[in-house]
Amino acid sequence: MRKVRVISYGVGAVGSMIAKFLLEKEDIDIVGAVDVDKNKVNKDLGEVLGLEKKLAVKVSDDLGAVLSKADADIAVHATSSYLRDTYPQIASIVEHGVNVVSTCEELSYPCTSEPEFAKKLDALAKKHDVTVLGTGINPGFLMDTLVIALTAACQKIEKIEAVRVMNAATRRVPFQKKIGAGLTVEEFQQKIEKKQITGHVGLEQSIAMIAGALAWKLDEIVIEHAEPVVAEKPVEGKDIKVKAGQAAGLRQKAKGIMKGKEVIVLDFQAYIGAEDEYDAITIKGVPNIKQKIQPCVHGDIGTVAMVVNSIPKVINAPPGLLTMKDLPVPSAAVENMAKYIST
Ligand SMILES: NC(=O)c1ccc[n+]([C@@H]2O[C@H](COP(=O)([O-])OP(=O)(O)OC[C@H]3O[C@@H](n4cnc5c(N)ncnc54)[C@H](OP(=O)(O)O)[C@@H]3O)[C@@H](O)[C@H]2O)c1
Repeated sequence: MRKVRVISYGVGAVGSMIAKFLLEKEDIDIVGAVDVDKNKVNKDLGEVLGLEKKLAVKVSDDLGAVLSKADADIAVHATSSYLRDTYPQIASIVEHGVNVVSTCEELSYPCTSEPEFAKKLDALAKKHDVTVLGTGINPGFLMDTLVIALTAACQKIEKIEAVRVMNAATRRVPFQKKIGAGLTVEEFQQKIEKKQITGHVGLEQSIAMIAGALAWKLDEIVIEHAEPVVAEKPVEGKDIKVKAGQAAGLRQKAKGIMKGKEVIVLDFQAYIGAEDEYDAITIKGVPNIKQKIQPCVHGDIGTVAMVVNSIPKVINAPPGLLTMKDLPVPSAAVENMAKYIST
């Protein structure tokens, strides 16, 4: 049986972790690597990943050249959170007849927030007979797909709440930076205001995905301002020290409103030093459902798993832009990846 041929597109913090996990899979070949970071371009992927061996794959900033040469089945893409930035990258992959799994948050459910890009990408993917999926741990699983799966046991649903509380100390450095850890409260507010840090991206997509699965027509999705969580004592993350009184991270809420009522509420809290970490989902309905995962699922490990475990499902899926709610029930693909693939 032939191996699954994968391109690593974006070998930053998450892309590198994905590539390392792919290397553990005997039936996957990394056949190309793409990044624009000058410190990585033209280097062997093994060196970029900090491995002691070379992998005979050079990191290139020329996506077209890599795609033309690689004869890949799929690209795993991890560069940016916003579809307006990633659209040209993903469209190029698709035009070369290669499937895509991306960590781009807005791609996880783009038909509400970016309907034009979503329509164009869906048509392009169908034209080239490939599948595109945006996924990750959140958005992609904990505050949407998992919620949707739990609703399957309900006859009626009045309200859904999902809360994620995580200690960001063990997360990758770019994550700690984007949640504002180590900034003064003033700097935090300025940087969020000027969009110099993104905060968490994806609450809007998660709410829209849940509503889409339940065929709920929401009046609106309200995304509240990200608020700093202020450290009461000094705390430390990877390369980031937070003094008492500084932002240790953030809290952000979002609400889906239907007929004037809050029917979906998401509460995301990520800060260095969080002591009580959990992922909780509460469904008020018939029956009521309460689910708590404690401690919370590790975001980086979970994202890598979500992306890699999606590979066989995406390769086998019908063409087009799909979301997690369109694919078969998510699962690990722990054994021999190639045996899941019918092509
Ligand atoms: N859905 C989820 O649950 C989930 C989970 C984790 C991460 N994410 C998202 O995944 C993305 C990647 O995260 P990260 O922490 O790995 O970020 P990162 O460390 O900044 O890595 C991104 C890499 O992509 C490169 N890049 C940027 N634009 C590119 C382009 N046009 N072509 C090729 N390479 C390009 C960057 O180079 P430069 O540094 O030179 O720009 C960098 O090396 C982020 O948007 C993050 O928010 C989503």
